[in-house]
Amino acid sequence: MSLKNFGELTPEEVMTLAINVEESNGTRLRTFADLFSDYAPDVAGLFAEMADEEDRHRDQLKVASDRRFGEFECTVTEDDVWEVVEPFDLEAGEHFVFDDMTLRRALESVLAAEIRAETFYRQACEGAKDPDLQELFRQLAEFEDGHVQWIEKRLESLGGTA
Ligand SMILES: [Fe+2]
Ligand SMILES: [Fe+2]
Repeated sequence: MSLKNFGELTPEEVMTLAINVEESNGTRLRTFADLFSDYAPDVAGLFAEMADEEDRHRDQLKVASDRRFGEFECTVTEDDVWEVVEPFDLEAGEHFVFDDMTLRRALESVLAAEIRAETFYRQACEGAKDPDLQELFRQLAEFEDGHVQWIEKRLESLGGTA
């Protein structure tokens, strides 16, 4: 199946994807917060805080969606629009070694997801005809930009090269 272009999506599909983006980024962040809670509690705390913010973004989007569109059927998923970025192997289970390298990989994985979310909202903002939705997507792009900057700062503080 070929990937859809952003311009081909209906406003309802954009909204559905936005909610999916928040849910999957929230889940990713919460997973990392749990995994790194002993090894790197400061970064784990940051991940947890960001996960809470993604929950709030999701709730905001749901309210806006109900208000603007009411109930609707939508089958589009993230997989229809972009390649799934999942470079981090969480299946390693008990063999998982916690060190600065895996912390770096976790941060890089989150960074890629946050950049994708920001890009998504910038495109959604450009494409939105409804001024309220346009404003909501603009704000969300800014929040995601904040997440990108936090993560970049943490990566810098790890030092060295990848
Ligand atoms: Fe978000
Ligand atoms: Fe985010």
